[in-house]
Amino acid sequence: MDSFKIKGPSKINGTVEISGSKNAALPIMVATIARPGLYEISNVPDLRDTRTMIKLIEIIGGSISSSNNTLKIDTRYCNNPNAPYDLVKTMRASFYVLGPLLSRFQKASVSLPGGCAWGPRPVDFHLKAFEQMGADVILENGYIQASGKLSGADIIFKVSSVGATGNVLMGCFNLNSQLTIKNASMEPEITDLCHFLVKMGLKIDGIGTKNLTVYPNDSKSSINIKHKIIPDRIEAGTFIAAAVITKSQLTIKNIIISDIKNVLDSFIYIGLKILESSETSITIDFSGEIKKLNISTDVFPGFPTDMQPQWTSVMCLSNVESIVEDRIYHDRFSHIPELIRLGANIKLKNNVVTIYGVDKLKAADVMCTDLRAGAALILAALASEGTTNVSRVYHVDRGYENFESKLRSLGVEICRISS
Ligand code: UD1
Repeated sequence: MDSFKIKGPSKINGTVEISGSKNAALPIMVATIARPGLYEISNVPDLRDTRTMIKLIEIIGGSISSSNNTLKIDTRYCNNPNAPYDLVKTMRASFYVLGPLLSRFQKASVSLPGGCAWGPRPVDFHLKAFEQMGADVILENGYIQASGKLSGADIIFKVSSVGATGNVLMGCFNLNSQLTIKNASMEPEITDLCHFLVKMGLKIDGIGTKNLTVYPNDSKSSINIKHKIIPDRIEAGTFIAAAVITKSQLTIKNIIISDIKNVLDSFIYIGLKILESSETSITIDFSGEIKKLNISTDVFPGFPTDMQPQWTSVMCLSNVESIVEDRIYHDRFSHIPELIRLGANIKLKNNVVTIYGVDKLKAADVMCTDLRAGAALILAALASEGTTNVSRVYHVDRGYENFESKLRSLGVEICRISS
């Protein structure tokens, strides 16, 4: 298992180019199964998770070639509506395949994803919605066996869910009556998926809002389309956090400012300065003390749970006390004991963290327990005195393209130790 050695405290300096969004690429890749066709998808980040999704599409019968972050996917001959445990257990987003398989084959056998590092993460909203759409859904030997031609329904999510919204939408090919979703996810990744599904032939009203309507359609014939994945707003937020925690100046390119507004505003509140900004790039600078701001995570356009661990690392070095509450995932705090190993002063109670800022962090051996917890530890390592050894970086490889080479190009002394 690879680890990173990071020498701190470090400054960063220069320009970083943000990769395509992992959480937009994954559903868009798997959506191609829903309708036979030839697809060209660009700006796909080369990550462990996107490689897992390629394997899954190949198991279903698709063929894929990949070059320079562009995937050419041929789903005309898909013939196997089964997603095995070995793949689904390594990546929850594999469960997205259920909707496309039901659209295309009216049947699917998909392993249940199981737990993850921050709790049980159920899929009950997905299953209830497909039942409402007319599917028979049973659990057999750890697999969801679903069958039936899906039809329109009025779906109301009691909690807004990114995955369930995407899965239901991908199940909407060949609907014979209208479908509505209330309390749909408004996350930019779902908006990007909607734009792709429209290119694939769905008519969707309300894109980017909580209320979506999908109209009846006949989508059996083969198509040929192209799409470019949006930039990764969480990677952008992580690099903003890197500039703040190292008190540095940084230019970030290939971003959509409106997608990171809440995160950017939060960092501005604690002292970040914007030196230059356009719709797709920003130059930022941080100097002085990190000021106080309490945050609570929320669905888009709120502060994203996927930035909660990185924000927590930054606030460890504030000179005041602050609070972080995760309202989306109540158990997403496995980074806290590791930050404490680096000298942070943090108390965790239920889903609320109280951070008592310290003057400095000191290097130690720490371990990644999930993707964003890993990012938080790497950020903390940048600001720690001495050489921090961050182990189990395979979690980080799931979601950050070329993280260490991007950091190295900004002047960080970081090296990967393979074992
Ligand atoms: C997606 C993101 C993940 C992010 C999360 C929240 C992908 C691949 N992953 O995960 O990075 O942290 O959104 O922004 O895009 N819930 C249920 N039952 C369900 C589904 C969800 O109770 O069937 C609950 C969850 O436990 C959670 C909340 O709903 O409390 C939101 O989860 P959801 O938006 O579904 O997260 P994911 O799609 O799994």
